Amino acid sequence: MNIKELDQTYVAGTYARFPLQIVKGNGSVVTDEKGKEYIDLGTGIAVNTFGVSDEAWVEAVIAQLKTLQHTSNLYYTEPCARLAHMLCERTGMKKVFFSNSGAEANECAIKTARKYAENTYGSARQHIVTLKNSFHGRTITTLAATGQDTFHQDFLPLTEGFLYATPNDCDEITRLLSQGNVAAVLFEVVQGEGGVNPLDHSFVQTMVSLAKEHDILLLADEVQCGNGRTGELFGYMHYGITPDIVSTAKGLGGGLPLGATLLGTNVQDVLTPGSHGSTFGGNPVCCAGAINMVSRLDRTLLDEVKEKSNFIRRELTGVRGVKSVSGLGLMLGVETEKDAGEIIRLCMDQGVLVIKAKNKIRLLPALNIPWDLLKRALSVLKEACATET
Ligand SMILES: Cc1ncc(COP(=O)(O)O)c(C=O)c1O
Repeated sequence: MNIKELDQTYVAGTYARFPLQIVKGNGSVVTDEKGKEYIDLGTGIAVNTFGVSDEAWVEAVIAQLKTLQHTSNLYYTEPCARLAHMLCERTGMKKVFFSNSGAEANECAIKTARKYAENTYGSARQHIVTLKNSFHGRTITTLAATGQDTFHQDFLPLTEGFLYATPNDCDEITRLLSQGNVAAVLFEVVQGEGGVNPLDHSFVQTMVSLAKEHDILLLADEVQCGNGRTGELFGYMHYGITPDIVSTAKGLGGGLPLGATLLGTNVQDVLTPGSHGSTFGGNPVCCAGAINMVSRLDRTLLDEVKEKSNFIRRELTGVRGVKSVSGLGLMLGVETEKDAGEIIRLCMDQGVLVIKAKNKIRLLPALNIPWDLLKRALSVLKEACATET
């Protein structure tokens, strides 16, 4: 059997894979099993922050791998403590719980919010508001948090206690957050899987002032829009707000599994010994790689993200077949006249990998994608949008 057949025979059928086997890569270029090269505008869904096999990250990971790969959380390790320090210094948050994925980072955010509410208000506030069209993960609780019925089907009953608000509907969020039964509101400032839609500033401000008024915790899901992706270290920073809890993953590990839940002043001591944990969370190798990632997300790099974002928008605006461009930084959604699946296929034929979010083309290039590759990839994408099929 070849790899495709082996995979189809033995790997659980949860993924509709593209007919492409990627065998290696270098920066923003990946290579398939036949040696064909592709400019990668998907980065493994916003994970490979500095592309594939980024030299400095690989060095940091290998050095740690050769020193100590795992201890469990029974002991202290340097990379875990240093990464937590770095994340707190950069955000003003106070403590970090490490896990292995975005779903787990959100689980921790939800557990912390519930425990805070239980400690403070007894059983009066057992609900968490999330937004329709959101995506928060695939565990039973984060599925419940995900405001899309299609993901819920077949897995009922889900964890109870979630209420769903329409993004950008200030009246509805005001009603929901004023009922007295809500512990927290969980939101992505840019809904990624939902179609790369940033929240309106006025909606976020309404949510924040209601949360302040009623002591409702603000939980920012920065799994996809965090770690420099939007041109700020975290997406919420575009909105001038201070969440109580920030969950992140994907680009933080840069290709190794790492989730982080950042806890602000109010909730820094909510989790106590035994109340939460993870065997692999804070793994020294993942954390050593993440220290390298985060230390490079400086102002110069973030400004470059913004500059490339503006360039992409300028290039795609007014192009035949392109209806609109949404998103922030290098997390962009392109609404096209043609079916997005067809455009993905055309781009793949021409050596460019793009992905989908709902009915849009989603662009998530490496934050350091070289200008010449970006320009080449965009000309392929423009052509794919414009050609008659
Ligand atoms: C905003 C958001 N939250 C959570 C998740 C779940 O992350 P993971 O697949 O690492 O569990 C994702 C994944 O796409 C996401 O985009």
